[in-house]
Amino acid sequence: MRLVIKDNNDQVGEFIANYICSKINAFVPSEQKKYIVLGLPTGSSPLPVYKRLVALHKEGRLSFKNVVTFNMDEYVGLQPGHPFSYHHFMHENLFNHIDIVRDNIHILCGVAPDPVAECARYEQSIIDHGGIDLFLGGIGVDGHIAFNEPGSSLSSRTRLKTLTKDTIIVNSRFFERIDQVPTRALTVGVGTIMDAREVVLIITGHNKAMALYKTVEEGISHMWTASALQMHKKAMIVCDDASTDELKVKTVRYFKDVESGL
Ligand code: GLP
Repeated sequence: MRLVIKDNNDQVGEFIANYICSKINAFVPSEQKKYIVLGLPTGSSPLPVYKRLVALHKEGRLSFKNVVTFNMDEYVGLQPGHPFSYHHFMHENLFNHIDIVRDNIHILCGVAPDPVAECARYEQSIIDHGGIDLFLGGIGVDGHIAFNEPGSSLSSRTRLKTLTKDTIIVNSRFFERIDQVPTRALTVGVGTIMDAREVVLIITGHNKAMALYKTVEEGISHMWTASALQMHKKAMIVCDDASTDELKVKTVRYFKDVESGL
């Protein structure tokens, strides 16, 4: 696992956006592989990344015409046009400002009449697109990745999940009232994320310090589902200084040394 420690949130966003930009620009479409496939998160953590990706596009340094996206999750019961849906979030913060082909955007449908079939269709669509090249993720304060709440199987696939009380309380900040927060979501599984060729995780803020510690320094546990990344062949966490408060000094020093080329 690679751990990149930046001074602040904006630097984290800039680093990851530049990283994704270089991957997209290095991609050469072929008959066998027409698109580079990204997995994308919602939440406040990826906002600086999306802001910078939009800026790179507007500066003419980045095009999304060869990019396919799969979002991580969506609330059950919210129409795509609902202001608190993840569909709406993604269009507002990224898709409306870039040149991605609309048909290349994939987001789970939270109002699908048959959620089980919707999740199976999503998994099949990922396979049909050749798998995910780079899955970008955030993390919950309880260490969840996508909506894989504590106790989720580390080999889980896309499915319906009931949200924990903690997640409902934390995510209520995006809603007007806590009783508006859906209690269930459709989410890719930990196994779906682990199948990606590369995973990049954003961990920022002091409130994520315990989640970073559990993900990096403690054992793999279904109670901190992001810790599954310890088993991934190509996982990178990009965090800010504030989130490192629970890490050992020697852990921080070591990963800083690695990045400085020592
Ligand atoms: C939600 C999302 C996760 C996200 C998490 C953290 O639960 N399902 O994908 O990582 O929130 O959000 P934030 O970045 O706002 O802290």
